[in-house]
Amino acid sequence: MSKAPRACVIGWPVEHSRSPAIHGYWLRQYGIDGAYEKEAVRPEDLAAFLSDLPANGYVGANVTLPHKEAALHAARSADVAAKAIGAANTLWLDANGSLQASNTDAYGFMTNLDEGAPKWRETCGVAMVLGAGGAARAILHGLIEAGVPRILLTNRTVAKAETLARDFGAPIEVIPWETKDSALSACGLLVNTTSLGMTGQPPLDIMVGALPAAAVVTDIVYVPLETPLLAAARARRLTAVDGLGMLLHQAVPGFERWFGVRPEVTPALRDHVVTTLGAA
Ligand code: ATR
Repeated sequence: MSKAPRACVIGWPVEHSRSPAIHGYWLRQYGIDGAYEKEAVRPEDLAAFLSDLPANGYVGANVTLPHKEAALHAARSADVAAKAIGAANTLWLDANGSLQASNTDAYGFMTNLDEGAPKWRETCGVAMVLGAGGAARAILHGLIEAGVPRILLTNRTVAKAETLARDFGAPIEVIPWETKDSALSACGLLVNTTSLGMTGQPPLDIMVGALPAAAVVTDIVYVPLETPLLAAARARRLTAVDGLGMLLHQAVPGFERWFGVRPEVTPALRDHVVTTLGAA
């Protein structure tokens, strides 16, 4: 059997995952004799699959829907981000063979924001986050860690936003979905974590023009790359940051753990992944 390190992405379904395109690109770029595969695993089979990870020759894995919470619980230990977010997206085996968990989504989001809008901290003050799903949990963790003093959180289903506010505490203030437009004039950062604006979904109805001139707008939707929200922001000369960079940057820590090289997110990687988006 080959000793080349192997990692995989575990999901159900898993076909849509872009992770193989990212990690496969880096393996080729750095000339690493390793592999990155897709593993379709049913929820009822996840625990057994993770126990068998080393036996199946894997040094670690990414975890996608619907396994992120279960993966956190299956791990022997988890880092601060995974615990705070309540979900894991990156797993590896330590020197003793015990399963470790991390969540790199907040890192990916923040690194993308720093890269696309280097001055966002200067103008942020108040941030508004739209949505209260799994992605919102990761982004709230990232923003709070970055020291954002006030975060207005709004979601169609208000109870889910209130649960997040209870979990994350002080900087978060829940506002009704219907009143979000009137709060925009105070916000230096607007983050869409909902699926609105994604190809096949309804558009996000929000008055981008009510934001201050120095505001930054970012969307985690990356199909299409230029969502109607980002296009509206750019039309008003606001700084707009697309969601693809979050996906690329969240992959960096896992690759480094499994294959021993900290990979770079380059324009060429981005172009490569963009070519796979249309084929999904
Ligand atoms: P993820 O884990 O990627 O964040 P999710 O948990 O399915 O995905 O969350 C999707 C988010 O998009 C939720 O905030 C959802 O709002 P609800 O909590 O009210 O369901 C939001 N969303 C999806 N469709 C929406 C719509 N038509 N209008 C407003 N919000 C919508």
